[in-house]
Amino acid sequence: DEIDKCGYEHFMLKEIHEQPHTISDTFRGRISMDQSNLFLGGITDVLPRLVQARRIIIIACGTSWHAGLVGEYLFEEYARIPVEVEYASEFRYRNPVIYADDVIIAISQSGETADTLAAIKMAKESGALILGVCNVAGSSIARETDAGVYTHAGIEIGVASTKAFTSQVTVLMMMAFLLGKKRNLISQEAYEELIAGLTQIPDKIQEILSDEQYIKGIGETYKDATNALYLGRGNLYPVALEGALKLKEISYIHAEGYPAAEMKHGPIALIDENMPVFIIATKDKSYEKIVSNIQEVKARNGKVIAVVTKGDDVIVKMADHVIEVPECHEALAPLVTIIPLQIISYYIAVLRGCNVDQPRNLAKSVTVE
Ligand code: AGP
Repeated sequence: DEIDKCGYEHFMLKEIHEQPHTISDTFRGRISMDQSNLFLGGITDVLPRLVQARRIIIIACGTSWHAGLVGEYLFEEYARIPVEVEYASEFRYRNPVIYADDVIIAISQSGETADTLAAIKMAKESGALILGVCNVAGSSIARETDAGVYTHAGIEIGVASTKAFTSQVTVLMMMAFLLGKKRNLISQEAYEELIAGLTQIPDKIQEILSDEQYIKGIGETYKDATNALYLGRGNLYPVALEGALKLKEISYIHAEGYPAAEMKHGPIALIDENMPVFIIATKDKSYEKIVSNIQEVKARNGKVIAVVTKGDDVIVKMADHVIEVPECHEALAPLVTIIPLQIISYYIAVLRGCNVDQPRNLAKSVTVE
């Protein structure tokens, strides 16, 4: 047991630290030597159907569903294919409309989640192409799907998914960029910029991990919170959802993720001096808007913990705490911004004396309905 943890106190902490390597493992062998092209061997044969897809339907549960939401932004932005992201448990019982030229992508770390597996079996009757994005090779979902892309994150033991999430997001990024290129929607130059950006992500995550003690210190400040809000916009909204899920599942603090602009439609009523608000506010096209969201929280005395791009000199004057992450391409930002949120949830849970690797009431793989 101790050997497996490689000296870390918990598997979750080990798995958080593994991410620079697991993300490299996800893209290894799938990027050409000159970084000019992507190859996804598992879906090469079915690529023409994917390129022609009328619509992509992503089905998943929990953290994998959050990865799917990141995928929605990417597929629509780069490949201009409409995307629906569905909870497998809802999809399977809803009698959904599925066309034969739709492509379904089932995302699952374990490849054994009962609802996702049942949704795949139900969708088969439609004749749509069904792809899997699984971590466990040979798992039930990997076997039930027509083709797929393995995430290669290695075995994940902590019930709270960390490295599986970033590897799923990495696969979806590669799929979206590849589709965008095949559909002639992105130039070779833009394609190569995205690919090069992806290869730099592991070093950027390593840099964030070196700030672990600072991030832990912020966790100490908020370890006794009873509620927390997580806000993000665009492709960082799913990161807000995932940050909130990490906190609630291991520390038992009630947390909610919201698109930042939705705050004024309800959650703003909750904000007072006891409410920590985690805001993902890296430099992108929504930056000015997210700065306004921070002002709205501060005007109500909420505590702002902002994840910002390194060197940000605006938010640093407004927020109670800032966590800097290295600059990266906007499309790739989910991979770096989730890291400090994983770290902070981990330390808050440890400081509260929680069983981080095996939180109450949760199983690593939900094989029952
Ligand atoms: C993640 O932290 C959760 N424990 C959980 O939401 C999980 O992502 C979900 O059960 C889906 O599992 P899967 O990826 O193995 O299908």
